[in-house]
Amino acid sequence: RRRLLLGGVVAGLGAATAIGADLALNPRADAPEPAAPLNGQETVPFFGVHQAGITTTPQAHATFIALDLQPGVDRDALRRMMRILSDDAARLTQGRAALADSEPELGTVPARLTVTFGFGPGFVSRAGDARPDWLGPLPAFTIDRLEPAWNDGDLLLQIAADDAFTVAHAARMLLKDSRSFATVRWTQTGFRRAHGSEKPGTTMRNLFGQVDGTVNLTPGTADFDRLVWHERGWLAGGTGLVIRRIRMDLDKWDRLDRGGREQSVGRTLATGAPLTGTNEHDEPDFAATTSIGFPVIPEFSHIRRARTENTDERIFRRGYNYDGVPTAGEISNSGLLFVSFQADVGRQFVPIQRRLDELDLLNEWTTPIGSAVFAIPPGCGESGFVGETLLT
Ligand code: HEM
Repeated sequence: RRRLLLGGVVAGLGAATAIGADLALNPRADAPEPAAPLNGQETVPFFGVHQAGITTTPQAHATFIALDLQPGVDRDALRRMMRILSDDAARLTQGRAALADSEPELGTVPARLTVTFGFGPGFVSRAGDARPDWLGPLPAFTIDRLEPAWNDGDLLLQIAADDAFTVAHAARMLLKDSRSFATVRWTQTGFRRAHGSEKPGTTMRNLFGQVDGTVNLTPGTADFDRLVWHERGWLAGGTGLVIRRIRMDLDKWDRLDRGGREQSVGRTLATGAPLTGTNEHDEPDFAATTSIGFPVIPEFSHIRRARTENTDERIFRRGYNYDGVPTAGEISNSGLLFVSFQADVGRQFVPIQRRLDELDLLNEWTTPIGSAVFAIPPGCGESGFVGETLLT
């Protein structure tokens, strides 16, 4: 506590009077200790068998950037680019400025920053390697209203941290360094609750108010390892990423009563418990019927349609909400950046999306407007770079 005692002269009396102006030079010095520890210095390791940003507990903010490679960028150039971008990410995620960072002060608050790189079909072709059969646009679904502005791409940057400022600086740095190799195709930003707003481990809610993410693969389990990590070739230790921009019509949703909203998903809005249970993680009883013989969890509900007997058809969801600027006449431009990781997009994601395409009451209020698939290469060691298994 630094205080300043100001001396003053009272004019007219001719006497020097000390006026004890107890001014705090730094008002923040008086602020109480924060209730929760600050997390600006928390870091997530960059190097490892798998890339960070997949099993990492989702950070509050994420920006997804898809880039298109410039003409003439060949395998050697791809290698150069991925070395530079990996070095930037390795530094920034540990709270160190990137090389040639013109705002180095902005690189000092990592706030659990992760940078995850993904390769589109064009990237893998230019690298001259065979791509997995699922790496390309998804099959067309009848519910899709895809807008070219949000589709596909050669290189994906998934940049996430608990501080939106950190994300913005990392994005800027990575884009500056990729400028001579690639141009931005699309950028999508998403958010969850701010760090510290809720107890750690609370399942996220989407903008419909639903608890979203209850039934999911759990990192560190045998099922997760088997269903998320790819096993062969350059993608061993990597995975597949699907990102779908799904518009949610909040105004139409508002017109539906609470009972109807809960039936469309098969879970309560209050806790996310299945309509046949009391707690969020209770197992849904799809066989339970009402007194007049209807299923308690309707046949058309999202959770019923998203699940099959085939336990291989499971995915790891790690999405974010988006809340864009409404255009004239709208009061919302919101939705979900649906993001899922799975070892085989064709065998895991596509059958689920097909079933939801055939029947899912939630489709009344949701519209996929963007879609892209990327191969997420494995992580790398300290002397390596992301993409080395494909490019060396
Ligand atoms: C479950 C919302 C799109 C796959 C759920 C749940 C909600 C939800 C509230 C229940 C809680 C939970 O277990 O997480 C939404 C919304 C969507 C959307 C609002 C679009 C805006 C999708 C898409 C897919 C998908 C595109 C995959 C193609 C799943 C799966 C489950 C699920 C696999 C777990 C089902 C189970 O209980 O086994 N979703 N979802 N969802 N959703 Fe979605």
